Amino acid sequence: MSRAVSQRTGFTSLRKGGINFDSFPMRLFTKGNGRHWNPADIDLSQDAADVAAMTDDERWWTCSLAAQFMAGEESVTQDLQPFLAAMAAEGRLADEMYLTQFVYEEAKHTEAFRRWFDAVGITEDLHSYIADNEPYQQIFTKELPESLQTLAHDPSPRNQIRASVTYNHIVEGTLALTGYFSWQKICASRGILPGMQQIIKHIGDDERRHMAWGTFTCRRHVAADDALWDAVDERMQELLVPAMGVVTATFEGWDGPPPFDVDMNEMAEYAMDKVGRRLGAIETARGADLRVIDLDASPEALEERFHAEDAAQLQAVG
Ligand SMILES: [Fe+2]
Ligand SMILES: [Fe+2]
Repeated sequence: MSRAVSQRTGFTSLRKGGINFDSFPMRLFTKGNGRHWNPADIDLSQDAADVAAMTDDERWWTCSLAAQFMAGEESVTQDLQPFLAAMAAEGRLADEMYLTQFVYEEAKHTEAFRRWFDAVGITEDLHSYIADNEPYQQIFTKELPESLQTLAHDPSPRNQIRASVTYNHIVEGTLALTGYFSWQKICASRGILPGMQQIIKHIGDDERRHMAWGTFTCRRHVAADDALWDAVDERMQELLVPAMGVVTATFEGWDGPPPFDVDMNEMAEYAMDKVGRRLGAIETARGADLRVIDLDASPEALEERFHAEDAAQLQAVG
């Protein structure tokens, strides 16, 4: 039932049964609390030496990737907030609690990249790394903020699905994962940037819970109203071209062979492989019992399986 916070008449935590720790969002919350990490604890001194030893092209490519990540993490920190209010309005305290951790983790990811830039001595304005990347601008200054901010005035299930597909399945599930693949090419091929490697490992661990929550949220809406399955597919189709554009734009603006043996076709293929892989898990929720969906751990198991597959694939390129 929908209610404004200003009309609070009782407390979920005081009710009989209070908070269900077996519910999917509470399981994610508990897991995340056990995996706390602190960006300030990561030693970045070797990274500074490695960046200093790079050629200009290598340094540009590395900074471009880090700048895209950092601005992306800042964007998701801000843009998730209407989803917290939407969960509060629905009276879903467990989701609201989990999303406080989720948004905190995004803030921490932003912090980690900024600490890295400062530690390697790159302190000038970094906007030039994203200014000419039109698909990046479209996703991070238009599609992402607009679809999330819509929830502030209309948190309908359909709008929640459009927001989640944009945020969890495209930005996190496709762009960030393809970005890890780039980092693997840069770092592992030469055994450089140990601090960045640690940062990416921690971020990837947090992101698996984020994407699992996105799959869970789409599943519960599709289970409640079968007509919403079309909204998932529709939003995916709308974003496919700009998402692939984010992956290829840096290559298209580059003269000659890019550094670190990164390859546009390999990267695009990797991204394409990630785009649709959560759709099947959402589709299986059609017609499912909502009480089962709320306790079903399969979105989390799915991310762990994807992680194992990705790790094997990354190992092969490194
Ligand atoms: Fe993040
Ligand atoms: Fe995330």
